[in-house]
Amino acid sequence: MRLKSILVAAFCCLLLTDLSAQNVRETIRLDKGWKFAFGNAADPKKDFGCGTEYFNYLTKASSIHNEGPYTHKFDDKEWQEVQIPHDWVTTLPYAQKASHSHGYKTVGWKYPETSVGWYRKLFTIPNDDLGKRLVLRFDGIFRNARVWFNGFYMGTEPSGYATQIYDITPYIKYGEDNLICVRADASLEEGWFYEGGGIYRDVWLEKSAEVSIAPFGTFVRAELKLPYTEAKLQIETEVNNSSLKAQTCEVSHRLLDAEGKEIAKSTVESLRLKSKETVTCLQSIAVDQPHLWSTTDPYLYQVETTITQAGRVVDVYTTTTGIRDIAFDAERGFILNGNPLKLKGVNMHQDHAGVGAAIPDALQAWRIKQLKKFGCNAYRASHNPMTPAVLDICDREGILVIDENRLMGINEEHLRLLERMIKRDRNHPSIILWSDGNEEWGLENTIQGTRLAEAMREYTRLFDPSRPSTVANAGGTELIKGLDVVGFNYIVQNDVDNRKKANPSWKIVGTEETSGCGTRGWYFNSPDYPGRMVSMNRDTTHHHVENVIERGWKFYAERPWAAGLFYWTGFDYRGEPNPLEYPAHESEFGILDYCGFPKDEAFYLKSWWISEPVLHVFPHWNLQGHEGEEVELWAYSNCDEVELTVNGKKLGRQAMPANGHLKWKATYQPGKVVAIGYKNGKRILTQTIETTKPAYKIVMKADRQVIAADGRDLSVVTVEVQDQKGRVVPDACPMLQFQLIGDGRILGAGNGDPMYPGADHPKEKDCHQFSIPAFNGLAQIIIQGSDAPSSLTLSCQGEGLKTGSVQIVTQ
Ligand code: GAL
Repeated sequence: MRLKSILVAAFCCLLLTDLSAQNVRETIRLDKGWKFAFGNAADPKKDFGCGTEYFNYLTKASSIHNEGPYTHKFDDKEWQEVQIPHDWVTTLPYAQKASHSHGYKTVGWKYPETSVGWYRKLFTIPNDDLGKRLVLRFDGIFRNARVWFNGFYMGTEPSGYATQIYDITPYIKYGEDNLICVRADASLEEGWFYEGGGIYRDVWLEKSAEVSIAPFGTFVRAELKLPYTEAKLQIETEVNNSSLKAQTCEVSHRLLDAEGKEIAKSTVESLRLKSKETVTCLQSIAVDQPHLWSTTDPYLYQVETTITQAGRVVDVYTTTTGIRDIAFDAERGFILNGNPLKLKGVNMHQDHAGVGAAIPDALQAWRIKQLKKFGCNAYRASHNPMTPAVLDICDREGILVIDENRLMGINEEHLRLLERMIKRDRNHPSIILWSDGNEEWGLENTIQGTRLAEAMREYTRLFDPSRPSTVANAGGTELIKGLDVVGFNYIVQNDVDNRKKANPSWKIVGTEETSGCGTRGWYFNSPDYPGRMVSMNRDTTHHHVENVIERGWKFYAERPWAAGLFYWTGFDYRGEPNPLEYPAHESEFGILDYCGFPKDEAFYLKSWWISEPVLHVFPHWNLQGHEGEEVELWAYSNCDEVELTVNGKKLGRQAMPANGHLKWKATYQPGKVVAIGYKNGKRILTQTIETTKPAYKIVMKADRQVIAADGRDLSVVTVEVQDQKGRVVPDACPMLQFQLIGDGRILGAGNGDPMYPGADHPKEKDCHQFSIPAFNGLAQIIIQGSDAPSSLTLSCQGEGLKTGSVQIVTQ
């Protein structure tokens, strides 16, 4: 009896081992252990001899004669250790002769010595991997990346925004060190905004069986109609046979709910695959009473696809999906699950203080949460496909996305990039619209533009028949005729009302709209700082409106046929400090600054974009030097009425106009401003702003005090300069010295000052000390943990200020 149970147990164990051993899919993040060095864009000798080898380094790189960084024998002892994501441009100084659009960083064709970056990584691939298919995936390298594996040339990708996939299987040295080498060349700009340089997005090693699902090889889309009592999931699966013999397999899918419980499944499909063939199979799953995905309830399902061969599981692949019905309508705007929903959106570039383009996933999630606080429900990925992690976050957070292609055109390179974006991203329920391009001035007024827009629209449909597409227009009249949905960048230059009257069938979205923002907390023009844009009382000359941000929202809110709008921009970004020039280096278009600290305009949007009561009165009351001057005070609020008292003097109770603001005039003297908000005649909110005492202490707040010990997770620390009573001193800019104790690092810092001339990113990988001044009372430090559980203490000193500190635990 005993022997029998032992034998049964042993048999079960064998069976289990056998099954799990067959399902070899494994996705490994390759973020650690990289080496980096600058090459040179102008001198091959300083570029590690790149291109000068006797045998052509593209075809015979692994030859014994070659010695470049792509060969194992190359010595990278002197190279710097870096972690991916990595953007080398963050560490470069600013210079007046550098590119205005890229934020005056010393990169680009004028700086050959800092525009080429080389990366090397050695790692072992075990003998057990023999027989599997291994691919390397780069989510994005800026730019013109050449990739070698074990000295063999894998390929070149000019685009700095495309996911690149290389099959490395035949080149592997099993049981030995394998070498990835990348040369990125950022000499050429691809956009007109800060783009960074290097391997600034994740790198992955994907292992799968020789018969398995191709990379990004599933396409799940829901077909459903009102009243949404049932849905049909159409599932396309690309199965690849990477072996040298013909094979058969079976494909099936299970639908799992958010708790991982199976709720439906497909039939089983048998496939025959020739050697090296990729075959697409079509199946469906019926879903009864689907739980719909929406902005307020972003419910996600998973489709689990299984490939079996002779009854053995060889691949299990998961596709996250959401079931929702979307449409753009010429009369009702954007429709989600049968109901019109106004898009309250912002444009976003991939750039954050202290890290540049290399934004770790946790920081991406933090950025989207900041936007949501102000009622934002939509995100335009301007002007390039984002890293996949951003789309995962938008799926989870219920943010609607316009995913944008970088280059307009229909030739091989253009279509390859368009197809790659769509095939990579089309499973994300958050994406509601593809954008095939932005402001192509050379095309917008030509017949060629119309033809290209039409052709790209049709190609887009071939890759994804479930969503419409657009192109954002700067005012042209021709390209626009070839679009599913018409994207307007700026109401005024597009004369939107009149064009809608002339073309009632147009479906319209405001792809860009002026935010009117300026420098956070900056209220007066100053001869000492001619570069700063004041944050109120502006622009009656250029825009001819008192409050620029109001114009866009009022316009789109009041027109039911308009889908909504995307402000230019959500966050400030480096580059385009328009209308200013050096030493300004960051844009000031963001409703949030470069660190994500809100400007006053963010509260205008919050007032009209969310339903909970909001009251925000500004400017702050530390207007030293302006005593006795008449100043305006403004209120952003969704209260019915707001009453203002300044230094004890009642200035009146005013009714708030819909989607508007209120203003009062007062003579500035230090003291106190009290605003009271009323709804239905009842007092519901009070805001008090006081002239503070001098800066006294530093107070730090971590957005998360417990983070994962995975070497990637991070905490965003807000640093406040406060007076003795704990009030933020809104004009304090003291120099701050930070010290981190524990197993982690200071990843970057910022203060939101678009003119701060110093460094915001440390040069060394394991930084524990860093200095940056506060700007108008605030600064930000980004702390990243290591792989080891640890307790971190960040302290901050400033001259004459009480030291602050904060604890972060990694576990
Ligand atoms: C738009 C353009 C954006 C940005 C913006 C600055 O025309 O699409 O990328 O440059 O202007 O105002």
